[in-house]
Amino acid sequence: MAGYARRETVIPEDKVREVAERLSIVEVVSEYVQLRRSGGNYLGLCPFHGEKTPSFNVNPAREIYHCFGCGAGGNAFSFVMKMEGLSFPEAVKLLARKAGIEIEERQATPAEKKLQEERQHFQRINELATGFYRSILLDSQEGELARQYLARRVVANDISEAYRLGFAPDRRDGLVKHLKNNGVDLEIALKLGVIRKGDSGWYDLFRNRLIFPIRDSKGLVIAFAGRVLDASLPKYINSPESPLYHKSSVLFGLDMALPAVRTENSIIIVEGYFDHLALYRAGIRNVVATCGTALTATHAGLIKRHAEQVHMLFDGDSAGKKATIRSMELFLEQRMPAYVITLPPGDDPDSFLTSNPVEAFSDRQSKARPAFDFFVRSLLAETAPDSVDNKVRIIDEVVPRFRKIADPVERDLYEKEICRLLGITPHSFRKRMGGMNLSEKETRTDSKRCAPQGDNSQETLLALLLNYPEARNETIRTGVETLFKGDYLELARLVINTMAENENAQTLSHLTDNIERPEQRALLTRIMVSDGQFADIDWRDVFSQCSRSSEKKALGSIKNIAARLAVLDADSEEYKLLLIQADSLRTRKSKL
Ligand code: UTP
Ligand code: MN
Repeated sequence: MAGYARRETVIPEDKVREVAERLSIVEVVSEYVQLRRSGGNYLGLCPFHGEKTPSFNVNPAREIYHCFGCGAGGNAFSFVMKMEGLSFPEAVKLLARKAGIEIEERQATPAEKKLQEERQHFQRINELATGFYRSILLDSQEGELARQYLARRVVANDISEAYRLGFAPDRRDGLVKHLKNNGVDLEIALKLGVIRKGDSGWYDLFRNRLIFPIRDSKGLVIAFAGRVLDASLPKYINSPESPLYHKSSVLFGLDMALPAVRTENSIIIVEGYFDHLALYRAGIRNVVATCGTALTATHAGLIKRHAEQVHMLFDGDSAGKKATIRSMELFLEQRMPAYVITLPPGDDPDSFLTSNPVEAFSDRQSKARPAFDFFVRSLLAETAPDSVDNKVRIIDEVVPRFRKIADPVERDLYEKEICRLLGITPHSFRKRMGGMNLSEKETRTDSKRCAPQGDNSQETLLALLLNYPEARNETIRTGVETLFKGDYLELARLVINTMAENENAQTLSHLTDNIERPEQRALLTRIMVSDGQFADIDWRDVFSQCSRSSEKKALGSIKNIAARLAVLDADSEEYKLLLIQADSLRTRKSKL
């Protein structure tokens, strides 16, 4: 099953299990959160978001925690990972020490060893390069122009040090020689792209450029960006993709931002290295930048892992607006609250902060608008809703994005707002939504996306699966796909498979480790901490009620199939398949 990739670790699985069995989650969480008993759970103030009334639940029987406020959930390991900012193996080691369990890591296989060695080489090369560029900037005559440039841009020594800025001299092979002198195998450096090999020998990638080292979340240098000191083009050159560097998943400045992100639970995202620097200099630290690429779904997921909300701070030009709207869609998909900070026309964060006090920026941040609101307004600024044609055009732009709003209250508000702004009735807006329904369903067939939020019957069925082995058998007999859809289907399969292997609390709490999508994990932990009422009931009764309601819902899709059939070629494979499907659905419906 995609999405449940097992984590690579050289800590043996049985050790992980031993640690989990030795420590209770209540013990672990109690070191950070004051808990009091409440029914079958323990209750406390959530450490991951600010709250005054407790909604953070720990379930000792299931070894699971879940916060009803922010949706955070998992087991003792994921709790410590999130709390201490650790990787999975690091969290296991920390808890092992607490439990007095010694962990000898398993011998790495030869292939693993080779990879580890290569990584160490890569790291050393990047360190050597960073040091080389830095010493040129600080101490060498060759760095004079770069020093003047930084002075002009008001980059003082402490800032230059925090970023470990450097300067690549205007020489063909400055770095090549430096690496060679330090005994580096140039073929390995070639894989990082910092040097290249041509007909007349080795040469540097960066020449006569100011260097920004790009670091991972732990602060290790993984790549570089180099800016010219004048107006020549290209303005920046970036390290190519390498085994260490994947630009679609790296956020520049994340290592510097993490402490502030943890306390503020919010991330500001900007587009440029110098924008990042300007905010950092102004004391605003919860900031990251993409590296010469548009924001990707991976970036958005990464941001969501660290913070509860995001502020986008892009240039006010049309490219910036486009980037804002594209990014908004990614955050809507992640169900992450996103806001847009706007600056006066012509300003970027750097210029704004150079000519205004930081309070002026904070003021703009506090007035940041929800991204969707920003989107609708910029759409209306472009196309005036003064003719039927224009209104239709606007609605067609709005509808696919509107669909991605997960929160029903928010949807409701925006629907009203859109209708008011366009002078149309909610009825005609919904009609337009309905009209576009079909094409969207088509693109959703492989749907990894969410089932409608809070589907009661599917949730209850999942709770039954967790509590009654017989319900699992019954589900298999009825057909998992018949009873569950979307996220629920994936979770139901996971529960059934895992419980078949080994049925105990540890297995279940372990299971959450392998769920990568936070909202899916939240769904499961929520059910796991709150399914107390399902103990000691007549499961059969509840099961048949819920399965009937689930099946009925599935049958609603007959209508969709009919609509699809109407536009398909009657000779096509898909047409035949759909006919069969529709038939069997009809038969089942008549039996209900
Ligand atoms: P900007 O041109 O806004 O750069 O591009 P900047 O970092 O703000 O620099 P200044 O203030 O003009 O000196 C924004 C980002 O786009 C990427 C870089 O990541 C840059 O920081 N970019 C830009 C490139 O990768 N290559 C380019 O040629 C230009
Ligand atoms: Mn810029």
